[in-house]
Parts: sequence; structure tokens; C-alpha cells
Amino acid sequence: MRTHDLIERAGNIFQLNPQPDNFPDSSCILVIFGGTGDLTHRKLMPALYNLLCENQLPQNLAMVALGRRDITSDEYCYGVYESIIKFARFDMDETSWRKLRNKIYYKKLNITDSSDYETLKTFLDKLDQEHGTGGNRIYYLAVAPEFFDVITQKLYDNGMAENRGAWQRVVIEKPFGRDLPSAQKLNRVITGVFSERNTYRIDHYLGKEMLQNIMVIRFANMLFEPIWNNQFIDNIQITSCETIGVSSRGNYYDQAGALRDMVQNHMLQLLTLTAIEPPASLDTESIRDEKVKVLRSLEHYSPGDVFKNVVRGQYGPGYINNEPVPGYRQEENVSPTSGTETFVAFKACIHNFRWANVPFYIRTGKRVPVKSTEIIIQFKPLPQVLYARLFGQLNPNLLVIKIQPQEGVFFQFNAKKPGTENIIVPVQMDFCQNCRLDNNSPEAYERLLFDVIRGDSTLFARWDEVEYSWKFIDNIASAWKEHQPEFPNYAAGSTGPAAAQTLLERDGRHWLHTGEVIT
Ligand code: BG6
Repeated sequence: MRTHDLIERAGNIFQLNPQPDNFPDSSCILVIFGGTGDLTHRKLMPALYNLLCENQLPQNLAMVALGRRDITSDEYCYGVYESIIKFARFDMDETSWRKLRNKIYYKKLNITDSSDYETLKTFLDKLDQEHGTGGNRIYYLAVAPEFFDVITQKLYDNGMAENRGAWQRVVIEKPFGRDLPSAQKLNRVITGVFSERNTYRIDHYLGKEMLQNIMVIRFANMLFEPIWNNQFIDNIQITSCETIGVSSRGNYYDQAGALRDMVQNHMLQLLTLTAIEPPASLDTESIRDEKVKVLRSLEHYSPGDVFKNVVRGQYGPGYINNEPVPGYRQEENVSPTSGTETFVAFKACIHNFRWANVPFYIRTGKRVPVKSTEIIIQFKPLPQVLYARLFGQLNPNLLVIKIQPQEGVFFQFNAKKPGTENIIVPVQMDFCQNCRLDNNSPEAYERLLFDVIRGDSTLFARWDEVEYSWKFIDNIASAWKEHQPEFPNYAAGSTGPAAAQTLLERDGRHWLHTGEVIT
């Protein structure tokens, strides 16, 4: 398919929020395992409320939150009400809340107890009658990963995932395994019960507005797509850094580290969307096929090259916003001698015709001075023929796709400085999508829940994406296992370990960031 056809059909890709009623089969019961957990309260319930405010929930919908606590639905909903006030994008509106409240139920469930599933099944069947949900189910596993397989199995054993005459989908939060073998094992259990089409592996970055925008920016603009290759691009830098530490997640994080927590999923998704070829069409599988091709083309380094091209770091004590913060090893539930990385920077090479010799520099870390996720495309310099001798070095053209906290696109180019002297300066065009108050972008989970309900899995990871990304990660992790790192190696509030700077300096480059004139 040519660029023109893609541009013509680009409007379809994200369908500009079609109403779920256009999908007659979207009536369902959303069953949330982990209903009393942080994710449900901070993200899922506020997202459902936002969707309701935007009239994007199907008429026939019920939600059943499952947890270990012995509380009533009223008590549960009181907590949800509070969470919505705190975390939803829309202000609390009592009429809207009542509508949502009438769809929410709480049930106590012991994940490993078969008889609880029998009771649950009877309860869900009864709700089908009351809400007209026809046996359709979404099972959302917002629980610790060690429970993914037992829940799946129990759903199957109790006849709750039979897919006969109605659909049942499963939504799985990350991490999907902790390496390739464990991910394969988990996948076998899940696909033994749910088909790939009904399996929704969440990477919440894919629900972010600007990630969805990457393909539109590329494939809907004549200005960008023709030069999106190694003839015109010098290097690409992808950064996702945060000021927060591990907070109360020490137990999980100390086992995972930044490589598994951020790189295996979010960072590789950013990379693939930036690098994919135009898909043959804009349907789910064509886009996923192209993403997999990028992952398959990623260079796997030899152990020696891992140390040259992949930097790891761990924060020590320092200051964030002038406030003292502890080092990683002093965080709650973290080993005082932990060798877990909280920062990763690496150079990735994609071996295909489009990207040969274009380095992708990628970094992610906790406790750096500013929270920011962005993709910076640095174009090659023009021949220094006309201007070099008169005006010195020209600045490179830069395109920045700003993912968060600001969403938008920034473009830097060269222009003459007003005045009698012929001086060239870099100038910027800066488009901010979420700066206007009336342009309140949906939260990632809104889009993802909306898509699960209507059965669109484009923004979820297909198994082979997960598989290839684990292969890439395992290669790095196994080289790292051979050497004990010298941690901590950066102070909280600094930009990361010195070696992350050297990684680019070695290639005659440096990390770029927006916010000020980029040189
Ligand atoms: C999660 C990671 O997936 O993403 C967290 O487990 C990280 O460690 C978070 O803080 C970052 O998400 P966001 O949307 O704030 O960039």
C-alpha cells in the first residue's frame, strides 16, 4: 500500500472514538480480580467513570469487583466514589455517579478456592438476567502475576470461559512473565483457555494519546514519512524518566528492575511504533505484524557488547525538588545490598534497510530531576556549503514527539535572526495538545477499557511481540548476571550514571531534551 492510501485511511485507524453502540455485541459484565487494589481504585474505576461521562459505555454493562475483604457493595462503592473524586478527569457529578453505582457489585472471593468460583458463576448468571449482558464477560486480572494461571484455570474448570454463544475475554496486566520461559509457560496456560483473539495483554503506554499519534504523524504527513529513514535521520533518542522512586512497590520492583519493568514493554513499544514500516492495511494484525518485524530485526549483542552498549544504574540518596530522598537500597522492602537497576540506557540497532546505521538511544530511570517521556528524531546535517564559513555550525533539525506530561510535537529548524547581521539561529514550532484546559486528553486506561469492551485488540500486545521482546531482554539480563554492578552509581535527582553520557559521547553525540533551545 502506498503512502497516499495510508493517509486516506489514517482516519480509520483510531476511528475517532466510535460509540460502543456501533458494536452491538459490547454488552458485558466486567469482572475485576483485584477489585480492592491500587490499580482498580486509581485507574480502572476513574477510567470507567470518565467513559460514562463521555457516553462511551454500553447500555448493558455490569461490573463485579472481587477481593479478599469482607465488605458490602455499599462499603466498596464508597471507596470507589472517593477514588473518582481524587483521580477522575471529570468532576464528580452525582447523576453520572448514580448511573455507574447501579452497575457496580462487590464480591468476596478467595482466588484459590473452587467453591467461590461456583458462587461467582451463579451470581454472574443472575446479573446477566438483570442487565441484559447475555453471558459476555471480561475478566480483568489486576492481581499479582503469580495468580494469573490459577485464575485462568479455575475460570475454565468452572465453565466460565467456554465461549459458546457469548464471548469471554481476559485482560492481563504486566508483567507478562519475568523472562521468556516463564512468559511461555504463562501463555500456554492462558491460551489453553482463551484464544489469542480474546487475550488482551495490557501495556498501558499503548493507551496514551501520543503513542497512538506516532503512526498518524508519520503516515498522515507528506513532510515526515518520505524522510523517515537512514538517508535523512542521524539518530533517534527515546526517553522515559520519572522523579518518583519505587514507593511501596519494593517487593515487586526489586525482583524486576528497570529492564523488566520498563524496557521489555513500554520502551520497546515506543521503539517499534517509531520504527515500523507502513502496514499493508490498518487492521489489528497488519499493524502487529509490522511491530514484530522491528523486534525481530533488533540486534542482540554478544555479552561483551552488552557491557559496551547497555548501561545500568541504581540511585543513591539525593534530592528531588530540593527535598532529601533515600537511596534505592534504603527503600521499603528493598534489600540493603540490592543489585537491581533503577536506570537503563542503551543503544539499539535495527537491522533493516530503513534503519541500518541509525542508532536508537533509549533510556529510562527513576529519581531523575524531571518526569518526561519523549521521542527525539535528529535529522542529518545539510552539507555545510552555503552557510558554514559565514555562520559556523548549523543546528540539526529536530522533531520531538512529546508523550507526557506535555503532549504534542516540537520541531526545530534554522532561520535568520532578525537584524542587520546575517546570523542563523535555531527556532521552534511547538504544538501542545493538552495545554488548553478544554482539551483534556483521555487517560490511557480509558482507551484500553473502551477497546476491550468493543473487542479491538490493536492497542494490546500480541504473543509474538511479547516473545521477541523477552528474547531481547533475556540476552541483556544473562550478560548482566555474570557481573556484580557497582551500585549505587547515580544520586537521586541527577540525570543518571555517567556511563549513560559516555554511551553517546563515544559516538560524538549527546542526549537532547526539550524545554530549552536544543543544540
Ligand atoms: C509502570 C511501571 O508500568 O509504568 C512503573 O511498573 C512506572 O514502575 C510506570 O512508574 C510509569 O508509567 P507512566 O504512565 O507514569 O509513565
